[in-house]
Amino acid sequence: SPVVALVPAAGRGVRLGENMPKAFVAVGGTPMVRLAVDGLLASGAVDRIIVMVPVELVESAVALLPPSDAVRVVVGGAERTDSVRAGIAAAPDAGYYLVHDAARALTPPALIARVAAELRAGHRAVVPALPVVDTVKTVDPHGVVTGTPDRAALRAIQTPQGFAADLLRAAYETNVLATDDAGLVERLGAEVHTIPGDPMAFKITTPLDLMLAETVCNAARS
Ligand code: C5P
Repeated sequence: SPVVALVPAAGRGVRLGENMPKAFVAVGGTPMVRLAVDGLLASGAVDRIIVMVPVELVESAVALLPPSDAVRVVVGGAERTDSVRAGIAAAPDAGYYLVHDAARALTPPALIARVAAELRAGHRAVVPALPVVDTVKTVDPHGVVTGTPDRAALRAIQTPQGFAADLLRAAYETNVLATDDAGLVERLGAEVHTIPGDPMAFKITTPLDLMLAETVCNAARS
């Protein structure tokens, strides 16, 4: 059954502070969304790719993505959840979905292939996870600390996040917002399996992240 990658690339990128939506900002001369799609293609684990972009950028996205029948551009939504929902609707025949942020532009293809392999091995929800380096605290609305979860039990979660298609569709039938797709699946009571993530799958969110990404690209070239 087909593996369809859904690439949310419709964010405004406010935190990055560039004058265009984040996925269209270049890293090492190539727009992030193109890098993300190239990584998915290079993984050899994906049959089709749906890219969700802001409505006014559909044509530019088509122009900068590789010309392939396997790659399609659709209009995203106001929230990431809306964008993913639009992607699911555009690929109703998928057997598996890999949801992969355009902003994780430098994700190694091998990580993408590992997520897909775990799905084929029978896990219905698979996410890459890394140990957390900072101590994480919960705070109340005044900023007063209310708790310190044991760091050893915490993980930072990356993408691609892989799902059996029926499970992700069911998760998106509910109308709640979440910062990741596995969060919606967890609410259904489904088990989410973690695999080791990769530091190179970091999300390019702030100007410092962009500097890091540029440096990594330049180092890879020399
Ligand atoms: O905002 P955040 O960094 O969590 O965004 C993660 C990914 O989701 C980015 O690739 C962004 O373009 C995408 N996104 C989207 N539609 C939105 C908001 C974010 O496709 N409305």
